[in-house]
Amino acid sequence: MSKVLLKLVVNGRPQEFACEPNQTLLDALRQDLGLTGSKRGCDDSSCGACTVQVDGVPMLACTLLAAGCDGQEIVTVEGIADHGSLAAIQKAFGEWGGSQCGFCTPGFMITVHWLLGQNPNPTEEEIRTALSGNLCRCTGYNQMYSAVKAAIAAEQRGKVPR
Ligand code: FES
Ligand code: FES
Repeated sequence: MSKVLLKLVVNGRPQEFACEPNQTLLDALRQDLGLTGSKRGCDDSSCGACTVQVDGVPMLACTLLAAGCDGQEIVTVEGIADHGSLAAIQKAFGEWGGSQCGFCTPGFMITVHWLLGQNPNPTEEEIRTALSGNLCRCTGYNQMYSAVKAAIAAEQRGKVPR
């Protein structure tokens, strides 16, 4: 099978590489670009661990063909830090117990990053609805909702939570 030349912008950086026509975006990110933050949980669109933003929309990279993303902008968990420092939501997840084993965390980070970009002050129901496609086997979720609310409060104060 001949390879497909692919141009992406990943976390703000232009990337050009050849991929197999049937290669998933998750494999391209992890294997070709070395961005291993996005995780393979179920590999069948069920868990959200592989969530990345594609042209500003959260998508499941495990079932998305890389070749279909040619020319698009991808944001992975590696791209949401704030100039080399943890983003407010990353810090809040750590402080509020929103991450335990951490396997689901990159997907949650991307979904929350998208949510707060759309709506900087979501209601509890809006937070729960936005996160409903991401599964976690460890936390029980309430710590995550608390972390999101802490991050929102920190953003509103103009600083990360302490
Ligand atoms: S690994 Fe993609 S949704 Fe689970
Ligand atoms: S922290 Fe372990 S699956 Fe979510």
